Amino acid sequence: MQIIHPLADMTRWSNEVIASGKTLALVPTMGYFHAGHLSLMRLAGRLADHVVVSLFVNSLQFGPREDLSGYPRDLERDARIAENERVDMLFVPTHEEMYSADFNSRVRVDGITDTLCGKQRPNHFEGVTTVVAKLFNIIKPHCAVFGQKDFQQLSVIRKMVSELNWDIEIFAHPIVREDDGLAMSSRNAYLSSEERGKALCLYNAIQHAKARFADGVCDTGQLKSEIRDIISANSGVSIDYISVVDKDTLSDKEVIDSQSVLALAIKVGGTRLIDNCFMGNDSEVSN
Ligand code: PAF
Repeated sequence: MQIIHPLADMTRWSNEVIASGKTLALVPTMGYFHAGHLSLMRLAGRLADHVVVSLFVNSLQFGPREDLSGYPRDLERDARIAENERVDMLFVPTHEEMYSADFNSRVRVDGITDTLCGKQRPNHFEGVTTVVAKLFNIIKPHCAVFGQKDFQQLSVIRKMVSELNWDIEIFAHPIVREDDGLAMSSRNAYLSSEERGKALCLYNAIQHAKARFADGVCDTGQLKSEIRDIISANSGVSIDYISVVDKDTLSDKEVIDSQSVLALAIKVGGTRLIDNCFMGNDSEVSN
């Protein structure tokens, strides 16, 4: 595995791969790898001849009071982990090269970014789509892999790719969970052991919702109130949102059906965590 920092070197390498008739899969990340990232890398390895993993903590997608400065970073550790996977290139651009002092361009997807995390974190998705657009232009992948945990991010990126006519296939990898069900996230590193226990209420809420839907409960208001009770039973945990939305349009659903997604965001102490599930059958790898 090689590590590349300069944008021009990355593009040169990609151009050579493409000219040789080989395919390229991109896994965009902000680093601090966990088993979820490794699953994305392995899926990418099955989809293309070469795998590029980008590692860039993207300041543009953090709000002024969010965790940009404290976001966990450890390039040496990440490089060691990626080295053991079938990753050809770890692309680690510098902030200065990605965003010059007078950088003034943005890529924005309207509508589906007004809800869920987009409502709670103004400008977050604009930061995500801007950096992903830049990565697509620098690396020119044939396909890219994202995690289903960031369900809204995935929808926003798919819409951007389709509307801006990029010939890049977007693949989703199902949520990867710890043994007890907590969705893997780099931000789990912030949790104390007590908070780690409380964070499980997210998964408990999801399990509860699935069981209730299987029993025939499809009133969103009813289910939300039951989930609120499960989460609120934990002191120090606050709810950002509990939403049931259509899996494609992300519009709110009053009546739950198999096309619905339950999306949750909570704060455990100072750590914001998200999780979601399809109320119908969970899709395996999808594109
Ligand atoms: O999901 C993430 O880690 C980030 O939002 C992404 C897609 C790498 C863009 O910075």
